[in-house]
Amino acid sequence: MKTLACYSIKGGVGKTASSVNLAYLAAQAGYRTLLIDLDSQGASSFYFRVRPSKKNWGKRFFKTYEQLLKQIKASDFEHLDIIPAHESFRHFDALLSDQGKRELRLKRVLKGLKKEYDLIVLDCPPTLSYLSEAVFHAANMIVVPVIPTTLSERTYEQLQDFFGKHGLPTKMIYPFFSMVQRQKQLHKSTIERMQDDTPRLLDTLIPFSTDIEKMGEHRSPVSCFAARSAGGQAYEELWQEISRKLKKL
Ligand SMILES: Nc1ncnc2c1ncn2[C@@H]1O[C@H](COP(=O)(O)OP(=O)(O)OP(=O)(O)O)[C@@H](O)[C@H]1O
Ligand SMILES: [Mg+2]
Repeated sequence: MKTLACYSIKGGVGKTASSVNLAYLAAQAGYRTLLIDLDSQGASSFYFRVRPSKKNWGKRFFKTYEQLLKQIKASDFEHLDIIPAHESFRHFDALLSDQGKRELRLKRVLKGLKKEYDLIVLDCPPTLSYLSEAVFHAANMIVVPVIPTTLSERTYEQLQDFFGKHGLPTKMIYPFFSMVQRQKQLHKSTIERMQDDTPRLLDTLIPFSTDIEKMGEHRSPVSCFAARSAGGQAYEELWQEISRKLKKL
């Protein structure tokens, strides 16, 4: 089982769009996938229509996580389950801060799922908190959507600094460009500069796409209702690139 986190300190960069599409494409490829919507705003839960899971999960988790465990729902798609955003996730930080070795709690809890799932996708809120630290420890790979603008580039650098200061391995961070508008000079020049000097920058660029924007109307992944659109194909390419890397981890 591998854990893939979609994370950025910056809001509105495409974390949820990416988590939803990557989880869907992984499930389509036969990976038994669990998408966990860690953002209490619940955007990625909204994109999927969930129904209660019939699985019997037993009592494998630490007591404090029993509530979390009960939240696993089956999606409309084969191989894809979801833990929707939950009000209690607002208190995730408080919960973790009460625990010894709080940064390792999420990792431990997810380990209990390794027989049921091949891939866990974490859709993260745009914060640097106990929860994000727990995510950094739990993940095998962190993908970071970066809109090619100066501000987005800066927040990506802040993330790297945070990793450096906390002794976390920056080699697990894989940035990729999101909401790219090549007709914009700033996007073009930022892409060119970052392509020259950014380690582990993924090759795939996700374009700014009205089909991706329409995911809210369709309440499903773009890869489901417009797989052949530019946005749908870009996410397919991104999934291929990420899955190749995951296999090597
Ligand atoms: N490639 C894209 N092209 C056009 N619109 C996009 C694209 N990706 C995401 N969007 C839209 O931009 C908005 C923000 O995207 P999304 O919710 O995925 O970002 P986020 O990083 O998860 O935000 P937050 O930090 O609030 O959780 C949404 O309305 C979404 O539909
Ligand atoms: Mg989001």
